[in-house]
Order: sequence, then structure tokens, then C-alpha cells
Amino acid sequence: MKILVTGGAGFMGSDLVRKLAKTEFKVSVIDKLTYAGDAKRIDEVFDFINFYREDIADMESLFNIFEKEKPDIVIHYAAETHVDRSILNPDIFLRTNVMGTLNLLQVSMKFKVKKFIHISTDEVYGELPLDSNEKFTEDSPLKPNSPYSASKASSDMLVRAFIETYGFPAIIVRASNNYGPWQYPEKLIPLAISKLISGEKVPMYGTGENVRTWLFVEDFSEAVLQIMEKGREGEIYNVGSSEEKKNLEVIKELLNILGKSEDYIEFVPDRPGHDLRYAVDTTKILKDLGWKQKVSFEEGLRKTVEWYIENKDWLFEKKQHIDKFVAKLKEEFAKIS
Ligand SMILES: NC(=O)c1ccc[n+]([C@@H]2O[C@H](COP(=O)([O-])OP(=O)(O)OC[C@H]3O[C@@H](n4cnc5c(N)ncnc54)[C@H](O)[C@@H]3O)[C@@H](O)[C@H]2O)c1
Repeated sequence: MKILVTGGAGFMGSDLVRKLAKTEFKVSVIDKLTYAGDAKRIDEVFDFINFYREDIADMESLFNIFEKEKPDIVIHYAAETHVDRSILNPDIFLRTNVMGTLNLLQVSMKFKVKKFIHISTDEVYGELPLDSNEKFTEDSPLKPNSPYSASKASSDMLVRAFIETYGFPAIIVRASNNYGPWQYPEKLIPLAISKLISGEKVPMYGTGENVRTWLFVEDFSEAVLQIMEKGREGEIYNVGSSEEKKNLEVIKELLNILGKSEDYIEFVPDRPGHDLRYAVDTTKILKDLGWKQKVSFEEGLRKTVEWYIENKDWLFEKKQHIDKFVAKLKEEFAKIS
């Protein structure tokens, strides 16, 4: 079996590539290596895969790769992924997440791919009120609130249209927030770790009341492997954790692990359109495929902190770029609000 992974040098895609490359599958990766991509994440398996530094929005390159690789399965992670960046510069999100996905669908259909797994997000459902027990199911309507989630919802709709119109064998996977080793430190958990181990304060949007569920990235990869093996074509699967955490609670757990006081939290003005609460109902994947979260938030967070401490050089190299970007964000968000 030949598997092609897009975005395989990103945080989540690389976890799957490291796992797949150690199996009997023949793995190839397409990744543009944007600011968020880094081939170091797949260094340990680089000799066992075929790597293409290409843009999924470039149809000709895709065609050439598919002609050479003739993949049986495509797992599509590649995307622009940072909500804050989508507020400043939505265009690139449309280009990669929508046009890139359309290109992949077209070329996959042409080369008769047997299974296409589209990695999406729970953010396509929009937000839930803070004071409810409601959760999003796979049938909940899509009400995206940020340019990022709107672009992901658009790509989900394209995948759906290919399933309905052409009988294309695709599956949509909607993930909750992931965390773990190798995540680019502009996202909440690694950003906070990078600040705290540098002796700096952690910026906390608003009052930190926003609620998310957090899934350790290896649990997510396990779900994708099960979907690849026994997921039903045309279906949507939510994949997430049942542990809901306020952002402030997440930071307090990090302070606790790193032995720091709450003086290390700095409350900053909220980002525009910040969704209050996300929570996904994962009954379907539990019942139909038997997938279950294995790593608790407490255990996963400890492992994650240990990994970043052991890999400080990588973290600090990225942090330099992010510090400049965060300063720009502050200015731009102030103009919007
Ligand atoms: N991280 C999360 O918490 C989370 C949660 C839910 C869903 N997702 C989804 O999972 C997927 C992976 O997320 P991630 O956190 O690993 O993202 P990431 O930003 O770490 O990685 C994205 C990868 O895609 C590559 N890429 C970007 N544009 C490209 C293009 N035009 N052509 C080819 N490659 C391109 C980047 O170089 C990078 O390696 C995304 O589709 C995202 O929407 C992420």
C-alpha cells in the first residue's frame, strides 16, 4: 500500500509519518515547508520516505507527484493553521486550505485513490456557550467564526461535494485541539512553555475563560490509523478528548509542572472573534471503530513539557520569529477592536 501524506512536516502530520514509516507501508510526503513546516520533525525516518517540497495549490506539481507515486491512500493534513494569522492575512488560508484541497481532490480522483482522509477541525462548528453541556456531533451545522475555520469549513464542503457528486471515497476527520512534542510555539501550550522556560510571562487572552478539549497528538494519529483501516467512506468522524479545560486552567497546570507562581500570567486584550467553547461528541468513533483516548491531559502535558525542555534549541530557534510576530499582532488587533 502506498500512502501519501500532505503537510507531513507539520506538527500533527509528522507524528503520523514517523509512525507510518516504521510499518510496511510505502510513505511519501508533500509539504511546502512554510514557516510552520520543518523537515527536522521527520529526520529520523527521512531515508524511508519520499519527500516532495511542493505547494498543494500548484496543480502541475501535484500531478507529477501523483504520476510518480500512484498513492492508494491520501491523508491530507496540509493547511495554514493559525487563527491569529488568518485574521491578519486570510488570503493565504483560502489559497492553501480551499484551492489546495480542491486540487488534491481532483488529482486524487484522476489517479483513482482508494481512500482520501481529510483532516479538519472542530472549529468548523463554531462556538458553544460556556455554561452548557452541549457538544457538537458530526451532524451539527457548520458555523465557522474565523477566516481559518471558514477556510476549513469550505474545504470540508468540497470534500462532501466530491463524495456526493462523484462517489469519491473520502472521509472527513474533525479534530479537537491537539498538543504534544514538535508543535510550533505560536500555539497556546508550546508558546506558554517557551515563555516560562525563558523566565517570561505567558500572555493570556481576555480572562482565560475560553474552554477547549485537548488531545495528545499520538492519540490523534492512532485515530487516523484506525480510520484508515476501518473508517467508512463518506463518513465524518469527530476525534477529541472529553477533558474540557479553560485556557487559564491549562496555563495553571503548566505553572504547576514548571514550579512557577501565577505572577507569570499576563492578561492581554482578547483576540477578535475568540470562540468561547469547543467540545465534540466522539460517540461515533468510539462505537464504530473502538478508538479511545489513551493519554490523559495530565500525563500528556508532562510528556510535552519534558520534550520541550530536552529540545530547547529547536524551541528557541522558533521562538525568536514568534516574538516579532506577536508584537505585530498586538498592534493589528488593537486596530480591529
Ligand atoms: N493543531 C491542532 O490543534 C489542530 C486541531 C484540529 C485540526 N487541525 C488540522 O490538522 C492539520 C494539521 O495541523 P498542524 O497543527 O499539524 O499544522 P501545522 O501548521 O503544524 O502544519 C501544517 C503543515 O502544512 C504545510 N503546508 C502549509 N501550506 C502548504 C501548502 N500550500 N502546500 C503544502 N504544504 C503546506 C506546512 O509547511 C506544515 O508543515 C491541519 O489541517 C489543521 O487544520 C489541527
